[in-house]
Amino acid sequence: MKDIAFHISDITENSLGAGATEISIEIDLRTPNKLEVIITDNGCGMTSEVVSSLSNPFYTTRTTRKVGLGIPFLIQSCEQTGGEVVIESAVGKGTLVRFSILTSHIDAPPKGDIASALAMLMTGNPSIEFSINIHLQNETFLLKSSEIKSELGDIPISFPQVTLFIESQLKLFI
Ligand SMILES: Nc1ncnc2c1ncn2[C@@H]1O[C@H](COP(=O)(O)OP(=O)(O)OP(=O)(O)O)[C@@H](O)[C@H]1O
Ligand SMILES: [Mg+2]
Repeated sequence: MKDIAFHISDITENSLGAGATEISIEIDLRTPNKLEVIITDNGCGMTSEVVSSLSNPFYTTRTTRKVGLGIPFLIQSCEQTGGEVVIESAVGKGTLVRFSILTSHIDAPPKGDIASALAMLMTGNPSIEFSINIHLQNETFLLKSSEIKSELGDIPISFPQVTLFIESQLKLFI
């Protein structure tokens, strides 16, 4: 079974593949027993025809194989818990993918290592401006690539120690 960390990485990989330069990942934990994720990008976007074909694993623009599995897997993981996937997109503007998982459902996927996945996405794609928001009951934690870079000065964001540091910060929240 795919875990939630895998889905977050997978949907973000789609944004990277769409040529996005800015990606926002919002994780909302404010509702008990529910995890909601909103991933927004400024990539190439999709037509409404493409968006409506996304639940079909045989729709893909990848050339190495003929099925795209990321979104069909995500839909399955969410819907089997009573959650949902909503995708909004505009050609030339970007895409928003919002998904929810009811975490107390017997079929809920495991969380996986979300902190590590987010840290790797951020530091492994140093030219992309990531904005990561984690909403908890009484506080919001915000991490931005540009702010981390300015804190680091001459140290590249891709340094392994930086990944570990970001991961340890995120682990306090998720
Ligand atoms: N954020 C996005 N921006 C633009 N197009 C997207 C985005 N997300 C998905 N797509 C389009 O939808 C298709 C299907 O996505 P999906 O993740 O299901 O499969 P895939 O990425 O093609 O393959 P896989 O995820 O199995 O590696 C992609 O090939 C791409 O054309
Ligand atoms: Mg994909």
